[in-house]
Amino acid sequence: MVMLVYFLLLALVVPGVATPLVTIIVSRHGIRTPYPPGGEGNLTKESMAQYTTKSFPPCWPPGPESSGVWGSSITAGLTPHGGEQIRLMGRWMGTSNFSGVSCDDVAVYADISSSRDNETATNWTLGAFPTCKALHQEEVIKGDAKQVLFNDGSNQELCGFQSSKVIQSFLGGGKYEALLNAWKSQIQLVDSVVHCCSSELCPGHLPCNLSSLPIKYTGKFWAATEGAFDIAVFWAEFFLLEYLNGNPQYAQGQLGVSDLVDLYRMAVENIEIMDDHFASRSFESTMASHILGTLLQAAERKPIPGLSHSQNTKVVYMAGHDTNLILLRLLLGLRWQSHGWAQNGVAPGGMLIFELEQRQEGGPVVSIYFQVAQPAQLREGQPFSEPQAPSRVQVAITDCPGDPFACPLDAFKKMVISKLRPECIGIPALRDLVENHGAGSVPWPAQYWWTFLLTGLAAFLLGAAISWFIKKRRSSSLSSGYSSQELTS
Ligand SMILES: *[C@@H]1O[C@H](CO)[C@@H](O)[C@H](O)[C@H]1NC(C)=O
Ligand SMILES: *[C@@H]1O[C@H](CO)[C@@H](O)[C@H](O)[C@H]1NC(C)=O
Ligand SMILES: *[C@@H]1O[C@H](CO)[C@@H](O)[C@H](O)[C@H]1NC(C)=O
Ligand SMILES: *[C@@H]1O[C@H](CO)[C@@H](O)[C@H](O)[C@H]1NC(C)=O
Ligand SMILES: *[C@@H]1O[C@H](CO)[C@@H](O)[C@H](O)[C@H]1NC(C)=O
Repeated sequence: MVMLVYFLLLALVVPGVATPLVTIIVSRHGIRTPYPPGGEGNLTKESMAQYTTKSFPPCWPPGPESSGVWGSSITAGLTPHGGEQIRLMGRWMGTSNFSGVSCDDVAVYADISSSRDNETATNWTLGAFPTCKALHQEEVIKGDAKQVLFNDGSNQELCGFQSSKVIQSFLGGGKYEALLNAWKSQIQLVDSVVHCCSSELCPGHLPCNLSSLPIKYTGKFWAATEGAFDIAVFWAEFFLLEYLNGNPQYAQGQLGVSDLVDLYRMAVENIEIMDDHFASRSFESTMASHILGTLLQAAERKPIPGLSHSQNTKVVYMAGHDTNLILLRLLLGLRWQSHGWAQNGVAPGGMLIFELEQRQEGGPVVSIYFQVAQPAQLREGQPFSEPQAPSRVQVAITDCPGDPFACPLDAFKKMVISKLRPECIGIPALRDLVENHGAGSVPWPAQYWWTFLLTGLAAFLLGAAISWFIKKRRSSSLSSGYSSQELTS
């Protein structure tokens, strides 16, 4: 009895303290080695040499004959430092958020076409659930071989990008003077470090510097242009990764961390030229419907087809790309400001967290957070602690018709479904889920048209039969010699 009163009091005094029914973490992979300029092939000395006139420092690029500062010679591969960072983040979340979760109640998804995503997933589970041996094996990862779930625009089987005309309009048209001018100071800052470029790259524009490198439209899914802006993005990301990876020297010792954070805005905005709101519906409808399915499954406690984890799952970790975070942000209409980063940044290891909580009153509610380590934390690689916690900010669900910080699941469901393009959902059972749970009036009847037809037909036949019967009764009563009045009185 005393205990009961105690718990009742506790419930009154600390409202809203409840462990989530389920937590979904959509994460970017950890710190990696850079891509080459242009994004294709391997990062080699030769691929970089055209874009600098400086003598080549031994810390560039990662490779067998380099100083080994990166710790890996694989292009765009997770570095050992990057793996360690993900484990530290996992350990912090394991102790502060998931200490009550058992091994069987964790599901791990990744873009299995990429070993760095696989390694990000297993490093995170190693940190978060150190005693769950099976979760540290690659085999536990639920795959997505065709990249429908973690679509970064590479799978255009169902839906595609805007027309090149629209994308050119985002770039300001013409010979891209507007684009160049918008990023002038950043491009020149990068150039002050690298002293681009070999003269054959700028026919008719000498001296050949980064700003005079001609810009051309490419429309590749990872970059809309090549030339000045794209190469500035390459170097900006290269310098940031040098810093985050803990390399002894970064940006030739000429830039500070605030420059690197500012330059990194170019990389995010470069992605957003291709990955606009339209593309978010094309490529992220599958991921969003998967998230919605996971939330509904946890709330209703019955399996939802199309998901590869059970209704008892408490933690769903999904390792993907910066593009997935950007497209989810645009699809759901979100924005965030993390400590140490520019607005809407998606730094290595950054994660969108969806929590479903059962409140004392009313149904379950959805909250969203963005969590990422600060730049210096990523570089230094100290374990996280209460005073040295990663940045975690709540993300308002501004299109929720209810509380944007605790959106009722039902309202969240309607909101998400209204934003998706069902024909772009690459998991058929999840497409059915979205079509059958459609907001209010629209979707569900479509596939049951024949029920309406048959009901209508039956009603018509019944009506016809009744009127025929009445007519018949009338004519027979008239012929019997009594008036209808006499019969009814
Ligand atoms: C890149 O390097 C890897 C070895 O690290 C090699 O297997 C692969 O063929 C190379 N790719 C290209 C396009 O040269
Ligand atoms: C962690 O990441 C590193 C790369 O940094 C990788 O070599 C290693 O296999 C990963 N560990 C696990 C348990 O996945
Ligand atoms: C998760 O841990 C963070 C501290 O990192 C804390 O602020 C937050 O309230 C925790 N959330 C849940 C649902 O336990
Ligand atoms: C990632 O892990 C999955 C599941 O074990 C495996 O099938 C896939 O080959 C791995 N991907 C890479 C690139 O190694
Ligand atoms: C870059 O080169 C162009 C000529 O191609 C020149 O007009 C411009 O002043 C140079 N910019 C800088 C910052 O040196």
